[in-house]
Amino acid sequence: MGQLDNKVAIVTGAASGIGAASAMRFAAEGAAVVAVDIRGAKAQETARAINDNGGHAIAVEANVADAGDVERMVAETVQQLGGLDVLFSNAGTLRPGSVVELSVDDWDLVMGVNVRSVFLGGKYAVPAMLERGGGSIVNTASISGLHGDGGAVVYAASKAAVINLTRAMATDHSADGIRVNAICPGTIETPPVKRMMSDPAVLKVNIDAHSMGRIGQPEEIANAALWLASDQSSFVTGEHLVVDGGLRSRSPLGRLADPRPAHKR
Ligand SMILES: NC(=O)c1ccc[n+]([C@@H]2O[C@H](COP(=O)([O-])OP(=O)(O)OC[C@H]3O[C@@H](n4cnc5c(N)ncnc54)[C@H](O)[C@@H]3O)[C@@H](O)[C@H]2O)c1
Repeated sequence: MGQLDNKVAIVTGAASGIGAASAMRFAAEGAAVVAVDIRGAKAQETARAINDNGGHAIAVEANVADAGDVERMVAETVQQLGGLDVLFSNAGTLRPGSVVELSVDDWDLVMGVNVRSVFLGGKYAVPAMLERGGGSIVNTASISGLHGDGGAVVYAASKAAVINLTRAMATDHSADGIRVNAICPGTIETPPVKRMMSDPAVLKVNIDAHSMGRIGQPEEIANAALWLASDQSSFVTGEHLVVDGGLRSRSPLGRLADPRPAHKR
């Protein structure tokens, strides 16, 4: 028996990285999956991989920052798969820059893809979930939403907004049987991160920052998303689950805070 048997789940950002791994994991647990991405052909590839593995998936090309697209994404889901139980609002993007460096257009772009998408997802998914008597919404935030790291101010602001939007949505819809939670990943080895980490020095800093001594895999976030999406987390709502290999639990001094001699750390 799968943890998502008889459930219909939308996964956004399903063409790549965390979204693709989650779409496959949800399908392996019995869900009928809607793989959504702005890159429609790539979303089709994810859906095809699921169907080739004996699962059930369709693909929908949509821009998660566009109200009409998100409304259509939910309508097509209900029309083709009969309802909606799970929404994983995972698509996201990053543009670097301090407040001085960042363009106004890039501010709007990132806030649109990362935050407006969560608002729109809830706006159109909640009524569909009410038809089924409840559901689970999972939003991808980031540890960047918990700290004021520099160099990507709009990303930090957007992910903090996702965390508090998650709490407020959870409060509004608890009585409806709809749970809303967020995940805060540490550094996860997905295509954009691989590009950023192509400099071995940057990769090493990232690895060292995680007390587990490695960065994470997309499947490890998919497992957390599965738990929040499924009834296994039935008493959890309004939370943000940090999945970061020990990045955040340690002080900024990292290994230097260990008072033992270097060879014993
Ligand atoms: N990889 C990490 O280290 C990390 C850490 C913390 C949080 N996150 C978050 O995880 C989520 C997934 O990131 P990833 O690392 O898997 O990246 P990724 O680039 O592999 O996947 C993101 C997907 O989102 C899609 N997308 C972008 N804009 C879209 C839009 N407007 N509409 C629809 N789809 C759109 C992209 O086409 C892409 O397929 C993002 O929200 C990201 O901010 C990632």
